[in-house]
Amino acid sequence: MGFWWLTREPGKQWQKHFCRSTEVKFFTQRENSRIREQTSSLFPRETPAKGTGSLLSAGGISEQGQTKDMNNLEEGVEFLPAMNSKKMEKRGPKRRVVVAILIIAFLLISLVTGLLVWHFKYRNAPVQKVFTGHLRVLNREFIDAYENSSSPEFIMLAKKVKSTIEDIYRSQPDIGPYHKETVITAFSEGSVIAYYLSEFIVPKYREEKLDRAMADKQSLVQRLNPRLRNPTLKVESVVAFPADPSIAQTARDNSCLFALHAKEGEITSFNTPGFPHSPYPNNARCYWALRADANSVISLTFKTLDLEQCTDSSDYVKVYDSLSPVEPHALVRLCGNYAPSYNLTFLSSQNVMLVALITNKEGRYPGFKAEFFQLPKMKACGGTLRGESGTFTTPYYPAHYPPATDCVWNIEVPSTKNVKVRFNMFFVLEPGVPVSSCTKDYVQINSTRYCGERSQFVVASSTNRIAVQFHSDRSYTDTGFSAEYLSYDSSDPCPGKFACNTGRCIEKSMRCDGWLDCVDGSDERSCTCTDQQFRCQNGWCKPKFWVCDNVNDCGDNSDELQCSCANNSFKCNNGKCIPNTQKCDGKDDCGDGSDEGTCSKAAQSTVACKSYTYKCRNGLCISKQNPECDGQKDCEDNSDEDNCNCGTRSYIKKSRIVGGQNSDVGEWPWQVSLHAKSQGHVCGASLISETWLVSAAHCFLELQGISYSDASLWTAYLGLTNQSKRNDANVQMKQIKRIISHRSFNDYTYDYDIAVIELQSPVTFSAVVQPICLPDSTHNFPVGKDLWVTGWGATVEGGSGSTILQKAEIRVINQTVCNRLLTDQLTERMMCVGVLTGGVDACQGDSGGPLVSVENSGRMFLAGVVSWGDGCAQRNKPGVYSRLTALRTWIKQQTGL
Ligand code: ARG
Repeated sequence: MGFWWLTREPGKQWQKHFCRSTEVKFFTQRENSRIREQTSSLFPRETPAKGTGSLLSAGGISEQGQTKDMNNLEEGVEFLPAMNSKKMEKRGPKRRVVVAILIIAFLLISLVTGLLVWHFKYRNAPVQKVFTGHLRVLNREFIDAYENSSSPEFIMLAKKVKSTIEDIYRSQPDIGPYHKETVITAFSEGSVIAYYLSEFIVPKYREEKLDRAMADKQSLVQRLNPRLRNPTLKVESVVAFPADPSIAQTARDNSCLFALHAKEGEITSFNTPGFPHSPYPNNARCYWALRADANSVISLTFKTLDLEQCTDSSDYVKVYDSLSPVEPHALVRLCGNYAPSYNLTFLSSQNVMLVALITNKEGRYPGFKAEFFQLPKMKACGGTLRGESGTFTTPYYPAHYPPATDCVWNIEVPSTKNVKVRFNMFFVLEPGVPVSSCTKDYVQINSTRYCGERSQFVVASSTNRIAVQFHSDRSYTDTGFSAEYLSYDSSDPCPGKFACNTGRCIEKSMRCDGWLDCVDGSDERSCTCTDQQFRCQNGWCKPKFWVCDNVNDCGDNSDELQCSCANNSFKCNNGKCIPNTQKCDGKDDCGDGSDEGTCSKAAQSTVACKSYTYKCRNGLCISKQNPECDGQKDCEDNSDEDNCNCGTRSYIKKSRIVGGQNSDVGEWPWQVSLHAKSQGHVCGASLISETWLVSAAHCFLELQGISYSDASLWTAYLGLTNQSKRNDANVQMKQIKRIISHRSFNDYTYDYDIAVIELQSPVTFSAVVQPICLPDSTHNFPVGKDLWVTGWGATVEGGSGSTILQKAEIRVINQTVCNRLLTDQLTERMMCVGVLTGGVDACQGDSGGPLVSVENSGRMFLAGVVSWGDGCAQRNKPGVYSRLTALRTWIKQQTGL
C-alpha cells in the first residue's frame, strides 16, 4: 500500500522547487534584469554593464552625473579672476546652484536606491506558500486501487485532477502566475475526494492577494471553460487551507509516513517510532493516514500517550477529520503525559482520519501507542423519546463525539405531566470559543445554547415536550453529555422536596440553611433568618458560627465586616486585632505569628528566628511564608529548595473523569494502600521518600486480639489506583520493616494520631509512584484553602470501601469554629477540613491517607493525615486530620527527613 504523501507526480520537479538555494538563485537573476530595465529608463544615457545590486548600479550612474557637474565647476574657477568683484557676486549664486543640484541629485539617487532596496528586498522578496486541501470529483466512482498511490489507476486520476487544479489556478490572475507545483496526496470515497498539496512562490507584496484568492471558494470553482484540458472531470467543493511549509519538506523525506486501512472486525494498532523502548525522534514530522471501508467511520484511541510537556513550541500530536492536515478539520491537539485511563477516544465523521506527530529539536519522550477500528456510519442521531423518564447521550459517549454532527431528541412524557432534562455530565468545550457565544459546538433547548464544561444542571419545560438539539462543527470535539429526562407534576415539580428555580429538586431542610444548594442560590432567597443565623447584607442567612471566621461566607463579606479591626490596626489570622505599629516588629503579637509572616517582599531577608519563621540550614531565618520548594531561592544557602523532588504528578492533571470522583491512574502518586493479612485494604498512607511512609497511629492499635502494630502483618501497595488491579505491572508491593507510632498518641482523644513506616526495601519512583512534599513546621495552610483528600474508604457512612481510589476537595475550617462544632474535642495537633454543607468527607478506610495542598508553585504538600470524624459527610461535622506542621519535628526525628 502506498503512502498518501508519496504520490507526487511528476515527482522530480517537486524537490527542485522546494530547495531554498534554487529559489534564491532564481530570484537573483530576475532581480538583476529588472534593475537593469528600470535604471535604463531612469537614466537613459547610461546602463551599467554588470550591476550586482541596486546600490552598485546607482553608484555607477551617480559618478557619471557628477563628472558633468564637476566640469561646470572647473569652468567657473578657471574663468573667474579672484579680484573681479562683479564676477565674484555672480560666482556666489552659481556655486549655490551647483551645490543645490548636487544635493538634489544625491537625494534623488538615495531615494531611488532606497526604493529599489525596498522593492527587491522587502516588497518583492519571494515567499514560499503551501496550501493543502481537497476537492470532490463528481463523475468518478471510488475504486480500491485509488488507495494505492502507485497503482496505474491512481496515477491516471491524479494526473487528471492535477491538471484540473492547474487549470483552475491558471484562470485566476492572483493565483496562476505564482503556482509552482501541485501534488495529489490521496483519494477517498465520496464520490472521489482528492487531497492535494499546492506550492507557490509569490513576491511578498502579492502574498495577501494570493491568500485571499485561495480562501475564496468562488475563485476555486471550476469554470466550464471549453479551453480546459480535462472537461471530462467534474469537480466541486474545492477547498484549500494555508499549511506549514514544513509539510512540503515532509514530502521529500517519507520515512515517517504510514498508511493504514482498518480490517473488518479487527483492531489495528500503531505507535510512534521506537515505542516503547526508545524515544521518538526529534524534528520529526510523522503522519499516519487511517482509512476505513466506505460508509464506515473510524474510532481512534490512544492507549498511552507520553510526550513533552505542553507549551506553545512543544512536541504534539494532532488528529484530523480529513486526510489533509488542515486546521479547520483538526479534532484535537495533544501533548504531555496522559494516564492510560484518560478518555482519548476520537470519532471521525467520514471513513478517513489523519494523525500527525510534530516534534521539536529537543527532548526524549516515549511517544504513543494507538488503536483504531471501523464502525458502520451512524444512520441518524437523536430521535423521539417517550415514557416517564429515560436517558440519552451524545453519540459514542464517553468517547469524543464525532465532528459535523447534528442530533435532535424530541422528548415527550405523558400529557398530564411536564418534562425536564437533567445533564449529569456536560463537556462541550471548544478551544477559544467563549461560553457566552457557543458558536461552534453546542446544545440548544428552545432558543438557549449551552456549551463549555458545566456541572450538573437541569432545563425544565412547562409542557410535556422538550426538544434537545446537539450540534458539532468540523473541528475540535469533546466528551459530550450524558442526560436524563424526567416527568414531573406542574403543580408539584418536586414532591416532598424544594424546587430550585433551575428545576433541580433539593431536600426541604436545605432551604434557608445558609448554604447554596441550588446553583442559582434560589434556595437561599426570601428567607427569614432564625436566631441561630446571621443576616448578611445581601439578605442571605448564614449560621452565626461563621461570622468572623475569616471566610467570606455571605459573598458580600458582610459576615466579616463587623469583626474587622479598627482603622489603624492589623487583623491577625486568628482574628485578633493588634495596632499596626506592632506588625513586623519582630515580636509575635498575634500569637500565631501572622503579624510577622510576610514582612519583607525581598527574598533572603534575614530576620530573627521565631517559632513562625522558616529556618535555613545555615541557621539563618527568613520572613517569607512557605518558602519551601516554591522554585525561588530564598535562603542564602538555597536550603529551601533542597530535596524538592516531590509533590508533582507525571500525568496531565484532569478533574474531568466521567463518573464522579474516581481518581485517575497516577493522579496521587504518593497514595499508599496498606493491606493487613487476610483483610485486604485497611488504611491509607503517604510516600515521603523511597523507604518511608506517613500514616495514622490509630491504624496500628491492638484490636480484637490482633496486634496491628506488628510490621509483618502488613503489605504496602504503591502506584495503585484500582484495588482489583494489584497485579498491574506499575504497582509496587512492599513488605514493612517497622512501624513507629507517636508515643503520645492517645487512643481516646486521637491526639498525636501519626505514625511513620519504614519499608523493607526502597520503592522505584515512576510515573505512578512519587513522594509528597513535607511542609516545614512553619508552613501555613490558611483557613478557607481548598485541599484534596484521597482514599479507598467507604463512599457512604457505614458503607463499604471503594475499588477505585476516590478524591474529594475540601476546605480548611477555622479552628475555633470547628472546636465549637465538634464540642471541644480538638487539640493543636488536629485540623478540621471539610465542607460544612455535608456530602464531601473522608470516611472509614481512608485513615492514615493523605490530605494534600496544591501550592502556588503547583507542587503538592502533605497538610494532614486522615484521623477521625463524627460520622461521615454530615452537615456541620467536618473531618478531623492530624496537623502535619505540628508533627513535623517528630517526623524528622524518626526518619531524618
Ligand atoms: N477513623 C477513620 C478510619 O479509620 C477515618 C475517619 C475519617 N472520618 C471522617 N468523617 N473524616 O478510616
